[in-house]
Amino acid sequence: MTDHVVVAQEEGVLILTFNRPDKKNAITDAMYGVLADSLENAERDPAVRAVLFQGEGDAFTAGNDLMDFAAQNAGGDTDRSMGERNVTRFLKALARAQTPLVAAVDGLAVGVGVTMLLHCDLVYAAEDVRLTTPFVNLALVPEAASSLLLPARIGHARAYAMFALGEALTGAEAAAVGLANKALPRAEVRPAALAAARALAQKPAGALRITKSLMRDAERIAALMDVEGAHFAERLRSAEAAEAFAAFTQRRAPDFSKIA
Ligand code: COA
Repeated sequence: MTDHVVVAQEEGVLILTFNRPDKKNAITDAMYGVLADSLENAERDPAVRAVLFQGEGDAFTAGNDLMDFAAQNAGGDTDRSMGERNVTRFLKALARAQTPLVAAVDGLAVGVGVTMLLHCDLVYAAEDVRLTTPFVNLALVPEAASSLLLPARIGHARAYAMFALGEALTGAEAAAVGLANKALPRAEVRPAALAAARALAQKPAGALRITKSLMRDAERIAALMDVEGAHFAERLRSAEAAEAFAAFTQRRAPDFSKIA
C-alpha cells in the first residue's frame, strides 16, 4: 500500500487523488497498484457510479516515475516479470472501464498523465496548464493506446508533434482540439469536475454503460496496448533510454549522437 494515492468515495463518486506533490505526483509501481485495484473494484461495486481523477499540488501528474524507468533500464525489475505489471493492470482497467471516468487537470500533466485522459469520458483542464507526451525525448514510444487515440482525437500532425518533438498543449488548446471538455481558471477545475462526476452518478447506470461501450472498442484498445507495451518494454532497456534517464537525473540535455 501507499498513501501516494488517496482513495475516497462520496455520493457515488470514487475520487482517486495523486498525492505525491513533492515529486509532481510522478506515478510509482505501488501507486499504479492502488489505481488498478481501485478501478477493478469500482467495476464490481454498484455503489460506484463514476470515478474522478485529480492531483494534489501544482501537478496533475508528471507521468511514470523516471527512477522506476531507470531501474527497469538497469534490469533491476525482474521480480515482476512473472505476473502482470501494475501499470499494465491500470491501463487495461482504463481501457475496459464501464464506469464513467472524469478528470480534473488543474496542474501539469506529462506522459501517462495525458494519455490516461484519452480514456476519460469528461476532462476539465486549467486554461494555462501544460500537457506533454515527450515519449521520443525519453527514447520511448507512445503507450495506453495513445498511438491510435491521440491522432484520432487531435489529428496526426498535432499528435506527432507531441510524441516526437515533445510539444505541449495548453489546457485552453486541449479544450479547443477536443482533448478536454472545458478549459477553466485553475480554481474552478476541481469543482467543475466533481459536479460533473456527481451528475453522472445520478444518471441511469445501465444506459451509461451501454452508451460508453458503443462509443469505444475496448478490446481493440486493450489489444493495441499489448502491441505498444512490447515496443515500450524493449525501448525501456535500450542504450538510448539509459542516456535519457541519466540526463534527467543529472539535469542536463541528453546526447543521442553517439548511439546508433
Ligand atoms: N519521475 C520522478 N521524479 C520526478 C518526475 C518523474 N516523472 N517528475 C518530476 N520529478 C521530481 C523531480 O526529480 C524533482 O525531485 P527533487 O526535488 O527530488 O529533485 C521534483 O519532482 C520536482 O520536479 P522539478 O523538475 O524540480 O520541477 P519543475 O517544475 O522544474 O519541472 C516537470 C516539472 C514535470 C516539467 C519536470 O520535473 C519533468 O520534466 N519531469 C519528468 C516528466 C517525464 O518525463 N515523465 C515521464 C513521461 S513518459
